[in-house]
Amino acid sequence: MQSVFLIGFMGSGKSSVCTCLADRLKWKAKDTDHEIELYYEETIPQIFATKGEDVFRTYESHILKQMPITNTVIATGGGIIGKAPNREWMKKHGIVIYLHASWNEIKRRLADDTQRPLWKDTIAVQALFKSRLPLYEETSHYQIQTDQKTVDAITEEIISLINTSING
Ligand code: S3P
Repeated sequence: MQSVFLIGFMGSGKSSVCTCLADRLKWKAKDTDHEIELYYEETIPQIFATKGEDVFRTYESHILKQMPITNTVIATGGGIIGKAPNREWMKKHGIVIYLHASWNEIKRRLADDTQRPLWKDTIAVQALFKSRLPLYEETSHYQIQTDQKTVDAITEEIISLINTSING
């Protein structure tokens, strides 16, 4: 079956849902951020600090195209939808699921985060969040509201969506 791409803003639960969903489906789990770190042998904060965001985005687009397009659940970085070719590639090669969380929920989940270079609880990140919402919507085949839901509940919802898309 086609791979599942999980998209959504930082803190929307993509990595946790990815592991749980892959486990339930008995598929492989991949995370584009993790793959970038393995391939380029630098952490995401290091890449941002030493090379800048544009280089990170080039790495991210390259790694995306290396992801398996069958039987794999792929958690993507929150900004992967910034480039049109990435959006088109995911939509063409996989089932794209947008995990939506509200701004307040994201702020709560990431309150103590220090690992995300773009995460600063400021007006600018909120503006980024708002500007990306239409891109997540446009790129996804399915959207899931995640506020107040457990990882297990979100996983079950995705499994039903996939079954419906197979069985019509
Ligand atoms: C980013 C999100 C991060 C990571 C990088 C940039 C973004 O991934 O790719 O820090 O632009 O939103 P998560 O969405 O997994 O936090």
